[in-house]
Amino acid sequence: MAMMMKLAVALTYVSLVMGMAVPPEQQAHRETLAEAAVNTKKLVHRYTTGTMASVFPDTSDNAGRPFALMEYHAPCHPSPSLTFLLLPISLSTSNILHTDHHYATYTVTTPPEGARTPMSQGRVAFMGNITLLPDLSHAESQALAKCYTQYHPDARWWLPDTKGSPHVSIWARFDVDDIYYVGGFGDTHYIGHIPTDLYARAGEKKIEQEDEASGLGEESQIVF
Ligand SMILES: *[C@@H]1O[C@H](CO)[C@@H](O)[C@H](O)[C@H]1NC(C)=O
Repeated sequence: MAMMMKLAVALTYVSLVMGMAVPPEQQAHRETLAEAAVNTKKLVHRYTTGTMASVFPDTSDNAGRPFALMEYHAPCHPSPSLTFLLLPISLSTSNILHTDHHYATYTVTTPPEGARTPMSQGRVAFMGNITLLPDLSHAESQALAKCYTQYHPDARWWLPDTKGSPHVSIWARFDVDDIYYVGGFGDTHYIGHIPTDLYARAGEKKIEQEDEASGLGEESQIVF
């Protein structure tokens, strides 16, 4: 970090000396891969509405075609996995469950509001597969519900086993095996794949697991 600051100061000095104007909004350096990993982690904690992409199965009239629709996620499982509360009735869920290995791609985008050009803002695509979690213990299910509703208070109406809920829902874990990130424009931002292990560690400090029964695995504290 200190190194970056020195570099930025040095570059500013050079451009002043050489009479070049540095636009104030321009970043002093291009976003690094490590910074991109942290920025991706921030994205999935701040904005928990994204887009789920799936492919219609062979049995469908739309076989082989891509399909994408809004979905909620929550970072309740150990990174890089994400937590979903899926409704079997949804077309995305149906596509995913009818496809080999339950493949899906899920994207999260910085909201465009207020940006001079939303193209300059970070977005990320997670590629992976969905595992349904129908047999969680009561404690595990409670822990997920507590975490998930912190991000999505409205979801309390359709949590699994909610009496009077109009929907059947089921907990699911999305395991990520590839990440593609576009930080913004390529001259100032990282664009490319982010190794999942780098992303998993980014901005996290492992803390002692206090409650083994929660079943969510190792706990992390986010330290952005
Ligand atoms: C997810 O993908 C892995 C391989 O990438 C596979 O071993 C696993 O069975 C898949 N999970 C499901 C639920 O299909």
